[in-house]
Amino acid sequence: MQTAIRGAMLTFKDDPFQRDLKDCMVYESDALIVMDGGKITAVGKASDLIAALPAGVEVTEYKNSIIVPGFIDSHVHYPQTQIIGAYGEQLLDWLNNYTFIAEQQFAQKEHATEVAEVFLREQLKNGVTSATVYCTVYPQSVDAFFEVASRYNMRVQAGKICMDRFAPEALLDTPQRAYDESAALAKKWHGNGRNEYVITPRFAPTSTPEQLEMVGQLARDFPTALIQSHVSENVNEVEWVKSLYPECGSYTSVYHKYGLMRERAIYGHGIHLTDEELDIFADTKAAVAHCPTSNFFLGSGAFNVKKAKDPSRPIRVGLATDLGAGTSFSMLQTLNEAYKAAQLNGNALSAGHAFYLASRGTAEALGLADKIGTIAPGFEADLAVIDLHSTPIIDYRMKYCKDIEEALFIQMTMGDDRAIAATYVAGNKVYGRD
Ligand code: GUN
Ligand code: ZN
Repeated sequence: MQTAIRGAMLTFKDDPFQRDLKDCMVYESDALIVMDGGKITAVGKASDLIAALPAGVEVTEYKNSIIVPGFIDSHVHYPQTQIIGAYGEQLLDWLNNYTFIAEQQFAQKEHATEVAEVFLREQLKNGVTSATVYCTVYPQSVDAFFEVASRYNMRVQAGKICMDRFAPEALLDTPQRAYDESAALAKKWHGNGRNEYVITPRFAPTSTPEQLEMVGQLARDFPTALIQSHVSENVNEVEWVKSLYPECGSYTSVYHKYGLMRERAIYGHGIHLTDEELDIFADTKAAVAHCPTSNFFLGSGAFNVKKAKDPSRPIRVGLATDLGAGTSFSMLQTLNEAYKAAQLNGNALSAGHAFYLASRGTAEALGLADKIGTIAPGFEADLAVIDLHSTPIIDYRMKYCKDIEEALFIQMTMGDDRAIAATYVAGNKVYGRD
């Protein structure tokens, strides 16, 4: 059934880190977006399209708002929903004191289903329509996640953590179990509806070389699956990896050695990557997931997005919350912190660059840029509607706003879940604030 929404609209047709923002950003102050069968079928000036709309097509109008591509969270741990804001210490202590305790509860599928439901509802409330997700070592935690996401018809990517050392016994698998369980899950879920499978070694320290060998075999046997892990998040972690894999020379080389650097492979953080490691990312087309709220929360550092996207050797970069080390489901708040991370590196991140990163940029990093992240005919109809006046103080601030770029910058600095007026997944309104 055809439906349509009307309002101001923002989307991108190219990467503003590589060329002029004005050649990349598409803004229409009064657009009509027509949807049918889960896809966008027409987009343009409302005045051009409205007359051609068949009689009886319902048009929902959003005033004082801006319609953007549904946000994409490229690195997030749904089992950590229950430990957001856990106090104390940096990565390795935080993992041992909170994460590895919480994740053991996901042996119970009922618990996993309940948390997946809370997690996905909260994403939709924040305009997040797609995510690349870590489950736990237990296959049933992956089934639970995909089952709940399928009920919302969200485009999701997820996988079972592979981990065979340096964690509590109950959370460990073996090289063979990592292969067998991941392969069975990939066969069941990869390409099933809007679901895709992600091969998920947690990070180099928690896998033996034998396990990474098996994970590399998985990557060869499932060439279209995504791959996700963590890289170079924390300086102590980097030193630990060097001591565990002395023959590799760098953290990234470990993943490269085992065949895990390729298109559709995405690595969280990458804060302390060397120039040589950045070259490996560029050559292999693997991506970094930039997780600023998490990086500030754990005191890990400030990722240099401008350097990563340097036109002389551009790397694909996605934006991500990394909950539960990340502190907010809101992509607006994630952009707020991404701006501050850029500032600490001596750069600015314009609203145009920021909104590109949260939509088309992240879709490119995940190899999904032909399906989501852009508002254009043929793309899947995943959309978020941002209310430009969602709180009294934002409403007041907007009285002094000059143009669309300033309006966007105000939203990413001051906005949060209250700014999301509605969320559409595959053409269906799945969340409405009012
Ligand atoms: N490195 C390995 N596991 C994790 C995790 O769960 N969260 C974060 N932030 N870093 C990690
Ligand atoms: Zn993570």
